[in-house]
Amino acid sequence: MPPTVPPVMPLTQMLAGFQISQALYVIAKLDVATRLADGPRDLASLASETGAHEEALGRLIRTLAPFGLFQDAGAGRVAVTPLGAFLSATHPMSLRPAALFWMETHYLPFGGLLDTVRTGMPAAETYYGKPFFDWVVEEPERVALTNSAMAGVVASVRAGMFDDYVLPGGGTVADLGGADGTVIAELLSRNPDQAGIVFDLPEVVSAAHGVLAARGLTDRVEVLGGSFFEEVPAADVYVLAYVLHDWNDEESGRILAAIRKAARPGARLLVIEAIVPEGDEPHLAKVVDLTMLGMLSGRERTEAEYERLLGGAGFTLDRVVATPSPLSILETTLL
Ligand SMILES: C[S@@+](CC[C@H](N)C(=O)[O-])C[C@H]1O[C@@H](n2cnc3c(N)ncnc32)[C@H](O)[C@@H]1O
Repeated sequence: MPPTVPPVMPLTQMLAGFQISQALYVIAKLDVATRLADGPRDLASLASETGAHEEALGRLIRTLAPFGLFQDAGAGRVAVTPLGAFLSATHPMSLRPAALFWMETHYLPFGGLLDTVRTGMPAAETYYGKPFFDWVVEEPERVALTNSAMAGVVASVRAGMFDDYVLPGGGTVADLGGADGTVIAELLSRNPDQAGIVFDLPEVVSAAHGVLAARGLTDRVEVLGGSFFEEVPAADVYVLAYVLHDWNDEESGRILAAIRKAARPGARLLVIEAIVPEGDEPHLAKVVDLTMLGMLSGRERTEAEYERLLGGAGFTLDRVVATPSPLSILETTLL
């Protein structure tokens, strides 16, 4: 008879979650899943190639196997499962950069969550002594890791999001906070008549040249560096993808005011975000809200909260488009 699972078990697993995150980080850092991408390998060679202690690595893999990440392939060999393969650097939707990014930049600040809940101050700001994005842009390696982590999350969590989506008409589409251009490339490759602008902090947006060249979009998309708190380019359609959730209402209002100032008459604004459902059901937005709390001044919002925020800045919410991903597209028009 299989042992019964005590009802308290889910709580025990939640409490132990920090160890699992670290275990996944080690797998990502040692490139274990990458080395298993072509098929099962024997543990001994895997350990010597990664500079790991064979027994310790074996125990790590054995712990992660029941989570659906590895399989015992017999004769001392291990295999990676389709889920575990997302930690491979060669996976087209790799979450390896996200594993490195979260554990190298979010994990230690999260030790200060108690203070955050007492004071409302993001733990990362206390830990790094400055707002998180200010810290990121200080070093090109941090920018590169942030961009590749975001691109991986976009590719995996938002896969298929724009498949059936028709962009509102308008000559120029500006993606503000568009990072390395992944989102604008996705949108414009389906809408050949529109031109684009990808706009982000100068240190971040320079990576867009490579992404756009790889997608054959160099001639149609301009790459512009700047701060959306100061001035944004003129356009007919604006995109804020996963941007407003990074900022509190006052800061978001300043971004929206900059758009209002630069926008062409009748401009549309697309806000791409996960919307917090009103009830207690599980939703990605509720988990990401914890990241916002610990790392940034932002927050995840309900539809009513977005409508209020946008309305206060002069944007009418026309409709909310559900997508195959956990994110929605809020279509708005500037009054
Ligand atoms: C969560 S990421 C979203 C990236 C991308 N839009 C996406 O959906 O994958 C937020 C982006 O806002 C950018 N950002 C932060 N502060 C900014 C500012 N003051 N002006 C322009 N972009 C900024 C960051 O560099 C980052 O690329």
